[in-house]
This record gives sequence, C-alpha cells and structure tokens, in this order.
Amino acid sequence: MEYQSNIDPSKLPEHIAIIMDGNGRWAKKQGLLNRIFGHKSAITSVRETTETCAELGIKYLTLYAFSTENWSRPKEEVNALMELLVSTIKSEAPTLTKNNVRLNAIGDLASLPKSCQKELAETIELTKHNSGLVLTLALSYSGRWEIIEAVKKIALAVSANTLAVDSINDTTFRNYLSDSTLPDPELLIRTSGEFRVSNFLLWQIAYTEIHITDVLWPDFRKNDLYTALIDFQKRERRFGKISEQLNGAKA
Ligand code: IPE
Ligand code: IPE
Ligand code: MG
Repeated sequence: MEYQSNIDPSKLPEHIAIIMDGNGRWAKKQGLLNRIFGHKSAITSVRETTETCAELGIKYLTLYAFSTENWSRPKEEVNALMELLVSTIKSEAPTLTKNNVRLNAIGDLASLPKSCQKELAETIELTKHNSGLVLTLALSYSGRWEIIEAVKKIALAVSANTLAVDSINDTTFRNYLSDSTLPDPELLIRTSGEFRVSNFLLWQIAYTEIHITDVLWPDFRKNDLYTALIDFQKRERRFGKISEQLNGAKA
C-alpha cells in the first residue's frame, strides 16, 4: 500500500500521460463476455485519477482514450465506445468544474461522430475558465498522425514563404503539434503490463520516464498513481549527461 505521505511534493511531474489499457481483459477476468463492461468500469479510474491529480496540484494529465488504430476494432465496440464517450463527458462535466479542471482534446476530432464533437466542444467551452488541472483526452489520436499533420502545416508555411527551412528546429516544430501549449510529459504510465507505446505522443516522450504496471485500467486507483509517482521520484533523469554532472560535482 502506497501513501501520499511517501511522495515528495517538490518533485512532482508537471505533466502525466497515461495509456489506459486492459479494459477488455478486465471484463474477461470478471467473466463478462462483453468488453464494453470493461470500458464502462474504466470511468471510475478516470474520475479517481483526475481527482487525485487535481488534489496533488499536477498541472496536466493526458489520457489516451482512443487511438487512430482503434477505429479498426469491431464496429459494435467502436460504436459503444463513442456512445460511452458522449455520456461520460456529459455526466462528468459537473465533477470537472467542482475540481477546477479544464477539459481539452487532441487528435483527429473531425473524424469523431457529430454527437461526440458537440458534447466535447460544449464541455471544453463550459470548463475553459477553470484554472486547475488541464485534462487532455487523446481521441482518434496517434503520434504518427500528429507528426504528419505537423509536417503538412510546415510544408505549407515554407511554400507560402512564412517559414524559413533553416528556422525549423525543436522549438518551431513543437508549434505545429496538436497542442503546443502542452509541455512534454515527465511521466508516462501504461497499465495492463504491455511494454509498448502504441503510437502515443511519439514526439513528446523523447525523455519521458515510463512506469508500466500490471494493474488493468479499470482497477487503477489512487494508490496505483501514488506508486507510479514514488517510482518516478526514484529515477535519475540524466538527459544524456552523466550522474556527476547532475549532482553538481565536476565531471
Ligand atoms: C483500453 O483497453 C481501452 C481502449 C483502447 C479504447 P482495451 O480495450 O485495449 O483492453 P484490452 O487491452 O483488450 O484488455
Ligand atoms: C492503446 O491501447 C490505445 C489506448 C489506450 C487508447 P491498445 O489496446 O489499442 O494498444 P495495443 O493494440 O495493445 O498496442
Ligand atoms: Mg488494449
């Protein structure tokens, strides 16, 4: 059991990203034949994780909710996920406001059903003045999609002579990502024990610390977030340097 008191409040990440995985396996483990039960149960995990991040004073939480590749799942599952998305955004809006959370979204939002786009836009508008945690949902999102979109915008700017090829660097490239106001996540959590990034935030996770837990997303609770944070706080983030340089000694 991990406790909040084991976390150093001065060493919290500013941005946590989560690959919420394992809903289908969770349903199967419960003996439920329909995977959608897993997705429904996952709402509690989203709520608890969001509230805990808000409580801790984390500034950004980004949740991978639906990938570009997830469109290839059986039609019934995709439809059920989209319906669940609409009903959840609607029902959770008051909780977001209560916790001073601002809703945000990245991804190919235009590819979502109109009802989803509408609910999302309304809740983003409703919460836009909230000054606490920024909760970003990655929807119809993939890192490669985002990078290709950025490259297209850059190509247009170069051909319109509004961007010089020589001025393209890390900083300018970032301006063309889905949301350039989001800092890189310091911590990426993946549930359900899979050791892969599945096309999530490929540009942004260049130096992110990764915490993988066997816990299936519908079982993920406050203490699992604390465990991830405690693990994160034990890491030495060297960014290519050597340990002695970070500790102030001459190397
Ligand atoms: C994550 O759980 C939710 C989405 C990808 C939408 P999964 O649905 O991938 O569950 P598993 O990985 O099959 O258990
Ligand atoms: C990653 O989970 C996508 C989301 C959590 C939305 P998947 O279940 O789609 O990933 P893979 O297919 O196991 O890599
Ligand atoms: Mg999965």
